[in-house]
Formats: sequence, structure tokens, C-alpha cells
Amino acid sequence: MSKTIYIGCDHAALHMKNDIIGYLNDKGYNVEDLGPYTPESVDYPIYAEKVGKAVVADKASLGILICGTGIGMSLAANKVKGVRAAACSEVYSAKLTRQHNDANILCLGARVIGIETAKMMVDAFVETDFEGGRHQRRVDMIMALEENN
Ligand code: RB5
Repeated sequence: MSKTIYIGCDHAALHMKNDIIGYLNDKGYNVEDLGPYTPESVDYPIYAEKVGKAVVADKASLGILICGTGIGMSLAANKVKGVRAAACSEVYSAKLTRQHNDANILCLGARVIGIETAKMMVDAFVETDFEGGRHQRRVDMIMALEENN
């Protein structure tokens, strides 16, 4: 439970971000809130970059990004070298993207899922380890695409 969780959102998801921070704090996680902190309209790539860079710099950490759909955040975060961000909307994918893809950022859609589903997905994501083995080769291939294109 020592890993840091970096979290960010946009205006569509401030309420969900704050609820998730409280939820993770209650469980004893160290959560770093990278903003925004007020409800004004913001551009989600700014926060995707902040969380992406923080997660890449702190290898033991994980990230959570929340926008309206989770999609814009995932597209933007995946442009940061070293990020593997997965937009998910149910628990099975949130767990498997850790086990098989070694995803380091979970992207959620505050206009897609409710807070109780989001909490269960966050639990699955932060509590599941990468399995390695045959999955390591495939993750290495993903990262080679980043290097070579
Ligand atoms: C903001 O209106 C919305 O476009 C954003 O939260 C997100 O859903 C983008 O993917």
C-alpha cells in the first residue's frame, strides 16, 4: 500500500476525482492530486500530461485520470513516453489491464459510470499486479512501437 497514486481530471469529473481521492485516502493510500481544483472548464490534455509525467518519473506509482468519457484522457496520456493508459468502464477490464498490459494509468468516464463502479474499478486497478511471463513480451512490443514510430 506504499505506492503513490497520482490523479487528475477535467471539469466533467471534478466530483468523481474528489470522491476517489477520499476513498483512497481512507484506505491509506498516498494520493497526489494534480488538479484541477476548481470547476471551471479546462483542457484535459494538460492534466493527462501532468499525471503521465508523474507516473513515468515514479516507477512504483500508478495514475488515475477522469474526464467525461475517459477516452480523451487516455488518448492524451498515451502520448507521454512510458505511459500505458487504459480507458475502462467495468471492473474486469480494470483488473486485466494491470495483469496483462501492465497499464500504469486507469482512465475513467464520469459521464459513463457511477461512483460505486468507479470505486470497484479503482480497487481492482491498484490492488492487481502485472503477471509478467508471456505478457512481458507483448508489453515490450508495445513500448518498442513507441520507440520506433
Ligand atoms: C469535456 O466536455 C469532454 O469532452 C471531456 O471530459 C472528455 O469526455 C473527453 O474525452
